[in-house]
Amino acid sequence: MINDKYLILVNWENPCRPVKRDVLIPVSGVLLESEAAENLKNLLISINAAEKITAVSGWRSVTEQRRIWDDSVKENGMDFTRKYVAAPRHSEHHTGLAVDLALKKDRIDFICPDFPYEGICQEFRQNAPMYGFVERYPENKRHITKIFHEPWHFRYVGRKHALIMTAENLTLEEYLNAL
Ligand code: DAL
Ligand code: ZN
Repeated sequence: MINDKYLILVNWENPCRPVKRDVLIPVSGVLLESEAAENLKNLLISINAAEKITAVSGWRSVTEQRRIWDDSVKENGMDFTRKYVAAPRHSEHHTGLAVDLALKKDRIDFICPDFPYEGICQEFRQNAPMYGFVERYPENKRHITKIFHEPWHFRYVGRKHALIMTAENLTLEEYLNAL
């Protein structure tokens, strides 16, 4: 099971090569791996959120991740950047399985979009595991993920794994260890 392609671990100690663009399909204005994209689309439709929630970032190349890192260092400093931006090759956005979501409004912060624990965003969160998504960087797990709390970042792992991880309150690192 740990070789399931949807359980690929990309983090501070596990770099990756970005998947090729041709396996990606567009959803909510970003590119995602096909099964992840299909599930995100269906989840948004199921809670009638396609007009209320938008994807801010999906698949990213290494060049894009480096630009995001460099821009953030310039704008917000190194401390902030290390909390919320993965180093190039260490971002799970390279896999096409991660998506940042935001409540639709006029101004959306690209690095820390607003995705509150109430209303339509919370409804999304509660239904996410049924469509294979988990909240990847929860509060109180920073010592494991090395990334600060990101209420907006969701990772596709597939329905079976997402339901167990959510029920057991496990990060991907902890789940893979348990497996
Ligand atoms: N914001 C997440 C950690 C990333 O840059 O991949
Ligand atoms: Zn993200």
